[in-house]
Amino acid sequence: MLFNRTALTATRAFSTSARRETKVAVLGAGGGIGQPLSLLLKSDPLVSSLSLYDIRGAPGVAADVSHVDTASEVKGYAADQLDQALEGVKVVVIPAGVPRKPGMTRDDLFNTNASIVRDLAASVARVAPEAHILVISNPVNSTVPIVAETLKKAGVFDPRRVFGVTTLDVVRSARFVGEVTGKDPKETAITVVGGHSGPTIVPLLSQNKNAQGVKGEVYGKVVHRIQYGGDEVVKAKDGAGSATLSMAYAGAKFTNSLLRGLNGEKGVVTPTFVRSPLYEDQGIDFFSSNVELGPNGVEKIHPIGEITAEEQKLLEACLPELKKNIEKGKAFVNKA
Ligand code: NAD
Ligand code: LMR
Repeated sequence: MLFNRTALTATRAFSTSARRETKVAVLGAGGGIGQPLSLLLKSDPLVSSLSLYDIRGAPGVAADVSHVDTASEVKGYAADQLDQALEGVKVVVIPAGVPRKPGMTRDDLFNTNASIVRDLAASVARVAPEAHILVISNPVNSTVPIVAETLKKAGVFDPRRVFGVTTLDVVRSARFVGEVTGKDPKETAITVVGGHSGPTIVPLLSQNKNAQGVKGEVYGKVVHRIQYGGDEVVKAKDGAGSATLSMAYAGAKFTNSLLRGLNGEKGVVTPTFVRSPLYEDQGIDFFSSNVELGPNGVEKIHPIGEITAEEQKLLEACLPELKKNIEKGKAFVNKA
């Protein structure tokens, strides 16, 4: 289920004025992810107002989406209207930037996307300094530190309010493990830790009782498919981009989780890439693990818990790569 019903029950207890404040902006709303994500957010009862921005096409997307028969208001903003788009927003979702083509790594997108994300974050810092920022643009392992460093420079960084959206890895894991076990994906929810690229994606199958029996060759294949699921889509799209529809689903799902937490629902826990103390002693200060979301954003960062020797090996392969990606993002903002 994309939108959790608990949220509806929970928010009924809140006043209408409190609900009216859940204004969400999508930056990059005209793109492959931005369009279906905007549609899904229009369907989320926890979103009261939707602000759609892109350097091209957002007013058209907004006019289209605004006809959907849900209560939220929708407004589109043109290239020179970023500040207006950000006024009063509580949550900003960023899928702006270029996607991969076959043969590229996510890191190959750095040169184009780093400055796009930095500039958007600087505007959020100025116009909506208390907004929660959800970063989809790749490479997530670097773009999240870029957002954090940009907010720090502006004096408004709050680690509870910056998130890398790694939900697509979680969605894929549930689906792929569901396939190999013959279970409904609802019963094969997998915690995915680390980051969002190849070896930095570490799925912890041992922590789900339905996945514990996946061993040997099947285990190796399913882990590889989770780590390289993005490449599967890039290859199939054959030059036309990367995952957009499943990403929009994942982005809407994570936004709904955050909104439920912000609205006071208890026990909303999901993996996300945040400023984290878990591996700070190894110089890695951003990491994805299960995070409890609450009224201020990040409420509690869960440790990764017990893992197998195989998972420990995956984690060891993840950490040095993740460290490099994080340092690259930070250096980009601090070079000047
Ligand atoms: P796309 O090219 O279809 O859309 C990107 C949109 O961003 C375009 O409409 C473009 O006009 C807009 N844009 C560019 N610069 C902008 C700016 N300065 N301000 C506002 N908008 C701007 O690409 P897509 O398929 O939607 O992918 C977008 C990004 O999401 C890529 O970097 C991709 O790698 C990433 N992605 C991440 C995940 C994830 O799991 N986190 C999954 C899929 C894709
Ligand atoms: C994904 O995992 O699908 C995205 O990060 C897009 C990509 O480049 O693979």
